[in-house]
Amino acid sequence: MNVENIKLINFRNYDSLNIKLNEKVNIFVGKNAQGKTNLLESIYMCALGKSFRTHRDKEIIKLGKNAAYIGANIKIGNYRKFIEIKLEKDKPKTIRVNKIELKSFRELQSGLNVVIFSPDDLKLIKGGPGERRNFLDTSISQIKPVYKYNINRYNKILFQRNNLLKSNRSKSDIISLLEVFDIQLSKIGSQIIMLRDDYIRRLSINSKENHNNLTSGKEKLELNYVSSIHFTDKSKSVIEKNFFQQLKDNINRDLRAGTTSIGPHRDDMEIKLNGMDARTFASQGQQRTIVLSIKLSEVEIIKEERGLYPVLLLDDVFSELDIERRSYLTRSFNHMQTIITSTDIIDLEELKGIDKSVFHIEKGQII
Ligand SMILES: Nc1ncnc2c1ncn2[C@@H]1O[C@H](COP(=O)(O)OP(=O)(O)O)[C@@H](O)[C@H]1O
Ligand SMILES: [Mg+2]
Repeated sequence: MNVENIKLINFRNYDSLNIKLNEKVNIFVGKNAQGKTNLLESIYMCALGKSFRTHRDKEIIKLGKNAAYIGANIKIGNYRKFIEIKLEKDKPKTIRVNKIELKSFRELQSGLNVVIFSPDDLKLIKGGPGERRNFLDTSISQIKPVYKYNINRYNKILFQRNNLLKSNRSKSDIISLLEVFDIQLSKIGSQIIMLRDDYIRRLSINSKENHNNLTSGKEKLELNYVSSIHFTDKSKSVIEKNFFQQLKDNINRDLRAGTTSIGPHRDDMEIKLNGMDARTFASQGQQRTIVLSIKLSEVEIIKEERGLYPVLLLDDVFSELDIERRSYLTRSFNHMQTIITSTDIIDLEELKGIDKSVFHIEKGQII
């Protein structure tokens, strides 16, 4: 799949932009704060319906303006889609595909997929469990729209359950009212756990291989799902039953804390390098390679699921990589559209012979 062209109006620091992209490699060169990441953000939004930088859509509208617009022609295999996103100051955003408005972004089945790799991704290793859950939730949502729906439903029920735990009703009242939430929470939660478990298993196999190649067999990478729900048998019914029981077992703790102490909202993904926790044991360079291994396997999983490669967005990371990692990465450029941003002109041996376009960005304009 690829983005054929993109049009922006009053999007961040862009007044108006209309560019045609190369099917292979696109390099955007510009000094800091010129609009390179903003451009990637607009493409990302066409894939996920939201930004990777902010939850507040209003922030994206150009200062002093009332609305922002993104329009992108995308090619998915043999067919085309025209995706439009309009952000307005006082209204919820609207998303249209081929001029038809969607009720929610989830309706956009079989749309654009992207994988973004930026310096910020190191927090996948160094950050807290929430960072890794975010990564999992975004990655799985791209290939399983029902997952996103379940996450939203789960969070709503969790919110209601927590409100009940904090309420000043009697303990026996709360306990009897909790039952209905616990049934729903364990039902949806077990579906979330199943999909995460499956995803992490695939991610682990795939990134272990990437990492092995990237380190000439010297380092062994392993990813595991660490769930707050205990289960030995990975069947939906067992997970659901155990989750429900654990909610009951933890009721006194939850009442004291006024919050739900177990569930997928507390889970994590363990990242091990040569058997040790990568968060504390891996050097900065090793962590960067781990992220690259994981991102490239995210790419492969999308290819397996969709039958097509996603669009790869590389924000300021390409020139930071050493020669071996860069050439490993460039090998994938031949079969997928790649959009690279950089502060320096990239004129590398590895990119010779690959079809590419170079754009210069200055103050929200292509010059
Ligand atoms: N809503 C907005 N309106 C106008 N300018 C914005 C808005 N949001 C961000 N910017 C500007 O965009 C610039 C940063 O763009 P960015 O794409 O992150 O730069 P870089 O080229 O370093 O990746 C900054 O100058 C910032 O002030
Ligand atoms: Mg940037």
